[in-house]
Amino acid sequence: MSSQNIYILGIESSCDDTAASVIHNGKILSNVIASQKIHEEFGGVVPELASRAHQQNIVPVVHQALAKANITKSQLNAIAFTRGPGLMGSLLVGTSFAKSLAYGLNIPLIDVNHMQGHILAHFIDEEGFDKPPFPFLAMTISGGHTQIVQVDNYFDMTVIGETIDDAVGEAYDKSGKILGLGYPAGPEIDKRAQLGNPKAFQFTKPKVDGLNFSFSGLKTAILYFIQKEVKKNPNFIEEHLNDICASIQYTIIGILMDKLKVASKQTNIKHIAIGGGVSANSGIRNALKLGEQKFGWSTYIPKFEFTTDNAAMIAIVGYLKFLDDDFAEQNITASARLKI
Ligand code: KG4
Ligand code: ZN
Repeated sequence: MSSQNIYILGIESSCDDTAASVIHNGKILSNVIASQKIHEEFGGVVPELASRAHQQNIVPVVHQALAKANITKSQLNAIAFTRGPGLMGSLLVGTSFAKSLAYGLNIPLIDVNHMQGHILAHFIDEEGFDKPPFPFLAMTISGGHTQIVQVDNYFDMTVIGETIDDAVGEAYDKSGKILGLGYPAGPEIDKRAQLGNPKAFQFTKPKVDGLNFSFSGLKTAILYFIQKEVKKNPNFIEEHLNDICASIQYTIIGILMDKLKVASKQTNIKHIAIGGGVSANSGIRNALKLGEQKFGWSTYIPKFEFTTDNAAMIAIVGYLKFLDDDFAEQNITASARLKI
């Protein structure tokens, strides 16, 4: 089959966003997301509620993705879906839907690793966004993951560092909870951080061997610090919120950058890409730009809509696998702890 006229539907349902996207060759025609608001009041994702919401959302989201792409399902060449990692109940909804649709349409099914999706999102054809050359380092930073991955080719990836406890987005969200901010707290902490003094308060960075990360100690340090200060001054948080946010952000970005610098030195790779919700963060974006000047890095930051969980990144992996004739069998199952 000619590689010039391939339509693939990508489906993502690994956490709390139900998403579908149509890709035509390397270009995204539609990228639809139904974000689940229901979790906000709980301050985090409730797995059972997430899978129920996926069940309600998946049919209309796929319909919309096809309509926006202006194609019918009979034009699709394959269905790509997130197999894992993620919440099992959520993954099951996307997996069974994708399997049935591919079976019904009699077209190939393509399983996608969500983490590879975050990384390969850089290969979506998008004006103004360069694709990183191989080999490059990818740092995936979100509410569910924190990894440094050496990418030697599309499907030749090695995790060289990862968190041993919380993900970096969790560190943001849990800090926000301590400060009484809404969920997810990352964007608000980032906004306030830009108005505050990053050196107002000091938090110790964790000592973790090699290229691994740890964020749970920082969360506890912030909690104890706030409890202590609020005892002395009940208005401490309101009076110093921007400075607190700036200091937390400064520490978190410092932790990420320290490891990235070591990773680049160790591997001698200077092409650095980021992905995941936290790559929207102004602190990490500025730090990477600084890295270009200081260490001669070339850095790659995806378009905002491809940083948070989305189906376009699943569709691009689907397209790359389609070109390789790398298809899944109908008896494939979801895998909550799927590795890269
Ligand atoms: O990739 P994503 O949408 O979903 C997961 O796979 O987790 O990432 C969501 C995470 C949340 O923890 C949120 O607080 C964080 O990304 N986040 C940010 C920013 N925007 C989103 N963290 C820091 N600064 C931001 N600007
Ligand atoms: Zn993700």
